Amino acid sequence: MTIRFEQDSGLFYLRAHRTSYIMKLVKSKYLAHIYWGESIRQVNGDNLLRFQARPFSPVPLSEDPSFSLDTLPQEFASFGRTDLRFPSFQVERRDGTRITDLEYRDHKIYDGKPILSGLPATYVDNDSKAQTLEITMLDPVLQLQVILQYTVFERENVITRSVRFENIGKEKLILLRALSMSIDFSDSNFDLLRLSGAWGRERQIERASLHSGIQSIESRRGASSHQQNPFMALLRKDATEDYGEVYGFSFVYSGNFIAAVEVDQYDSARISMGINPFEFSWVLDPGEEFQTPEVVMVYSSNGIGGMSRTYHRLYREHLSRGRYRDTERPVLINNWEATYFDFDHGQIEDLSSVASDLGLELFVLDDGWFGHREDDTSSLGDWIPHKSKLPIGIDGLAASINKKGLAFGLWFEPEMVSVDSNLYRQHPDWCIHVPDRTRSEGRNQLILDFSKKEVCAEIIRSLSEVLLKAPVSYVKWDMNRNMSEVGSSALPPERQRETYHRYMLGLYQVLEEITSKFPDILFESCSGGGGRFDPGMLYYMPQTWTSDNTDAVSRLRIQYGTSIVYPAVTMGSHVSMVPNHQVGRITPLEFRGHVAMSGNLGYELDVQKLSTEEQAMMREQVSVYKEIRHIVQFGDFYRLRNPFECNETAWEFISEDRTEILAFYFKELSEANPPIRRLKLKGLDVEARYQVTSTDEMYYGDELMQLGIFIPPCQQDFKSFMWHFKVV
Ligand code: DGJ
Repeated sequence: MTIRFEQDSGLFYLRAHRTSYIMKLVKSKYLAHIYWGESIRQVNGDNLLRFQARPFSPVPLSEDPSFSLDTLPQEFASFGRTDLRFPSFQVERRDGTRITDLEYRDHKIYDGKPILSGLPATYVDNDSKAQTLEITMLDPVLQLQVILQYTVFERENVITRSVRFENIGKEKLILLRALSMSIDFSDSNFDLLRLSGAWGRERQIERASLHSGIQSIESRRGASSHQQNPFMALLRKDATEDYGEVYGFSFVYSGNFIAAVEVDQYDSARISMGINPFEFSWVLDPGEEFQTPEVVMVYSSNGIGGMSRTYHRLYREHLSRGRYRDTERPVLINNWEATYFDFDHGQIEDLSSVASDLGLELFVLDDGWFGHREDDTSSLGDWIPHKSKLPIGIDGLAASINKKGLAFGLWFEPEMVSVDSNLYRQHPDWCIHVPDRTRSEGRNQLILDFSKKEVCAEIIRSLSEVLLKAPVSYVKWDMNRNMSEVGSSALPPERQRETYHRYMLGLYQVLEEITSKFPDILFESCSGGGGRFDPGMLYYMPQTWTSDNTDAVSRLRIQYGTSIVYPAVTMGSHVSMVPNHQVGRITPLEFRGHVAMSGNLGYELDVQKLSTEEQAMMREQVSVYKEIRHIVQFGDFYRLRNPFECNETAWEFISEDRTEILAFYFKELSEANPPIRRLKLKGLDVEARYQVTSTDEMYYGDELMQLGIFIPPCQQDFKSFMWHFKVV
């Protein structure tokens, strides 16, 4: 059984394919965390916890001075009743007090997984076996029920957690903090791995030892952010890419979040994750409930790589939805870096004609096609074609591009409004703002208040009008600034701190409606590149523009870091012009191609400016990619060389049916008189024979893994190689 409860011992056992998670009721009231790690069948219920009186730790039960919540390893920590560590939730009463205390009431276990109303979340389908445990905890004074939700994906080896708060009393309550999970490890002998960065250098891997006190990863920007991804992992000190224990926490949410670890005085480590309590509160009237987003927790005993492959599979198969979940993604060309705002119908026709000749499948018209937009100072919100640039409209252009054998895609930035727009002139109160404060612009734009129903309805209407009229097969959904002066004119004073989360709920509802209304459109999310590359967005839109930085060397690190959690099929990766527009670097077309072919291949350059030889190479890249994309997009991923540690990067994909292997090797700077190096592959079948498709060379699986293949000499900077093997 996946989940079971033992009445006598008060033990809850959650068991996935290779993982056990164990909790225990203590004094019939408190829910203690006992274990999470490699599967164990049974534990001795009498010998799981040790209590000891501790100085300066208050005790809730005067008859038992050795028992304090301050030292009990817990599953979800109350505030103000003897646990003086980082709380999981906080509630304010009418009288201003904020003490909470939870006691176990009951629980239920059932097959499947409930949807989380209004929120993105992983889901169960016919192929997967999942069970859910809901433990109801009650604060009898507040009459607040806190329902801890756990789902075990058996085969996928994953546990998800979220929490529902229900006000079953007669008094209004205010949630000041409502995290999604917390867990107390009994020691802190871990490193913390995070994915940090900035615009243009997202998801750089940082690994550092835990230390006493609180270390946290947060966003307070109104989006999950370029700066910190809503993810963290705890790694045992000896854990590497392929060995050792790793615990991953990934938050299915696209707004403000916190992921925190508190190492306390006795070296226990409390992990917490959820909506950032900073600038958050939520009024819970009698009868109302609040559902938190979910955290996806992965335990791996085979290193960071094992954890990543678990996330990849889950997010490919149980997060991503719709037709494109299992469909190969088209090779696209996007006009942004080719023209920026400076284009017209004729130029797009010319670009798309060459693109079609080179074998591309989808033409994406980026920013600048609407209102009177000539630069980034106007027209966001006016989703009507720019008359002088596009005299026969989007429908006319799209039809013409379709005739060339290309599908047509279109850019929108639906959450934004320019001050110079008809939408803003008509509805100046539709943006996020507060009275008496200047509305600070970012990239000359303001943010629409998606907590307002009428705003969401108008955006759905105006986008639908374009999408119904023109044959659009792909939408790039952009979002180019973070929030300031956050407040909503739709909300009363006591609910102003709900604005950030209500914005996200509004956005999710709009995305749900639009993606359901246009199920054949492939949606790609974007936020100035990867400023909202998170599982929340991937639930609605199965791929994300990984970064605005298209330099292939920078992309090695960005894509490597992104791959810690997210599968290659989610990563938009384009070949662009050199010198590169973001960093000025010149790299060979082959190298740029290999980097971009390691995700969803696209091109973002003026194909007309390429030489005949470059066009031939590009045609070849596109055609090769069409042959191998099923391996990249749906295969298992192994990291072989880490660009954060050396001059080389290498990674490998194994096709779903395990009969094809792709290995990529990249070397940044050339060396004088270098050693002869080999590349060892991973995850192969020991006894299978693999043939290199281009040379017919033959290797055994164990040979490729233990001995490896020779890396050809690289006597130039930015050299790359790709090997395609087939099982014979
Ligand atoms: C930011 C995106 O990341 C770019 O790819 C491009 O679409 C621009 N916005 C357009 O304004």
